[in-house]
Amino acid sequence: MKRKLFVAVMCATMVAGTVAAPAAVKAESKGLVGVAMPTQDLQRWNQDGENMKKELEEKGYEVDLQFAGNDVATQVSQIENMIANGDQLLVIASIEGDSLGTVLAQAKEAGIPVIAYDRLIMNTDAVSYYATFDNYLVGKTQGEFLVDALDLENQDGPFNIEFVTGDPGDNNVNFFFGGAMDVLQPYIDSGKLVVPSGQVTKDEVATAAWATETAQARFENILSSYYADGTNLDAVLASNDSTALGVENALAANYTGEYPVITGQDCDIANMPNIIDGKQAMSVFKDTRTLASKVVEMVDAIMQGGEAPVNDEETYDNGTGVIPSYLCEPVAVTVDNYKEMLIDSGYYTEDQLQ
Ligand code: BGC
Repeated sequence: MKRKLFVAVMCATMVAGTVAAPAAVKAESKGLVGVAMPTQDLQRWNQDGENMKKELEEKGYEVDLQFAGNDVATQVSQIENMIANGDQLLVIASIEGDSLGTVLAQAKEAGIPVIAYDRLIMNTDAVSYYATFDNYLVGKTQGEFLVDALDLENQDGPFNIEFVTGDPGDNNVNFFFGGAMDVLQPYIDSGKLVVPSGQVTKDEVATAAWATETAQARFENILSSYYADGTNLDAVLASNDSTALGVENALAANYTGEYPVITGQDCDIANMPNIIDGKQAMSVFKDTRTLASKVVEMVDAIMQGGEAPVNDEETYDNGTGVIPSYLCEPVAVTVDNYKEMLIDSGYYTEDQLQ
């Protein structure tokens, strides 16, 4: 289906004696793309959605961008509408990886390709491609950061550590937490790392909807149950910044020991003051501009009848087989390199981080 895109052209109004350029130029639309994002609550999804919309429009596509308020039923109905409206390709960052099978069967039936964005959509054969950051590397980077910060290779310890990860329905959690645990588990096994709460399984350390308040409440409990006697907390593996912030809020109100080494992910503006003050030791930076641009490239290739660029065809099996993926590279950001990574690169302005 071809749609017309009307590109508004700003032009000078007619001045007596001169003729202005035509007021509008019609251009052929290259097609309608649906972009379904999970929520506007978290900074990154706003950026991801807006970056993609802007770049797709620059390439001549029309874009139907929707945010679902972290509500699965809302996301399902938004996707149903996209299919009914004739969207020709869907880019979806799911809320719950397992909940889109039925609606995506409709997409497949209608011949609409689907790109899973950032989070893999599970147990449906309707997903054509997956684009994300290397999620295993995110977790591994966090784990290795803690190993270095505590100097686990050379120190005997034992050091006390606690774990906080994200929503158990988000497939990324398996990779974030799995990548970190692959690095840290040997030190737990050898006794160099000790977990006073005893909470180490994915379900025990999960945070529903990745909510800061939920992570904070759980961590307040941990502090009052296991650290109120003056036990020192040396490190917290937090899978992302919204959960790290919950930990930092809980510590600010309930902890007087030596401050722990805390990890995070996303370089959220809300966490930057703590990173700059040394209260959060690191965050994994995933430049959402890079991912959005890559997905726009993939969309364009598919819409032109070609194949999307991929660089991984073995890691991400969604239960129906391996989904060809493009993995972007995450990098660790600390107080030492945040200016270069975030300000010099134009991701944030200095003012935003005041
Ligand atoms: C994303 C993270 C984000 C988290 C919470 C994950 O799937 O990969 O970047 O912090 O969801 O929104």
